[in-house]
Amino acid sequence: MRINQYIAAAGITSRRKADEMIGEGRVRVNGQVLENPGYHVQDGDVIEVDGNKITPAQKKVYYLLNKPTGYVTSTADKEGRPVVTELVPDSTRVFPVGRLDYNTSGLLILTNDGELSNKLMHPSGEFPKKYLVRAAGIVTLAEAKMLEKGVDIGGFVTSPAEVHLIKHDRNSTLAEITIHEGKNRQVRRMFKAVGHPVLELCRTGLGNLTIGKLAIGQCRKLSPAEIDYLKRV
Ligand code: URA
Repeated sequence: MRINQYIAAAGITSRRKADEMIGEGRVRVNGQVLENPGYHVQDGDVIEVDGNKITPAQKKVYYLLNKPTGYVTSTADKEGRPVVTELVPDSTRVFPVGRLDYNTSGLLILTNDGELSNKLMHPSGEFPKKYLVRAAGIVTLAEAKMLEKGVDIGGFVTSPAEVHLIKHDRNSTLAEITIHEGKNRQVRRMFKAVGHPVLELCRTGLGNLTIGKLAIGQCRKLSPAEIDYLKRV
């Protein structure tokens, strides 16, 4: 990016005024007064205007990823396992909002908008989260009702949830659960509490956002209406 554009993107002044500032010797690159107004900023350059370091405001980006299992919800992993940010085809650094377990798949938002991320993760404004669950054994209606009412998951009783039993075979039950809070490994702990460990878990919805037909491992940009919805609710 050309230096005058960089200075304008940082919200200091217009491109034209930035050129004037360069002419006045008020802009330094890596400690040296810049003489060339056509300079292109390189990765790692330290730019100062009137002695103050500047960084251009980054364009905000918002993605919805269909996370595969076998990915860590993080930007880096000490053990070298794959991380979800590898699946976002954007040179802008993004970070995941909230967390899905290594073995959970489904809807995950990634953004560089710290303000929205804090809002979404704040316990007071929990968006309903919908999960498709395959649980071991046959979950009875009575057990589904217990899950809906609230179960003790180890020092914490979950708040009301909605459970829909979809079908079962001899060994497992397919169910949908919507929760309104986000404790660590909550859905797994809830099903375990009623005697049916989770075999497979996929988040399919967050508020009115859904995973839809997005293929596993693929991501898409959120639409302006979706971004607006997340900011507004
Ligand atoms: N609940 C869980 O148990 N795991 C997840 O990844 C998300 C919700």
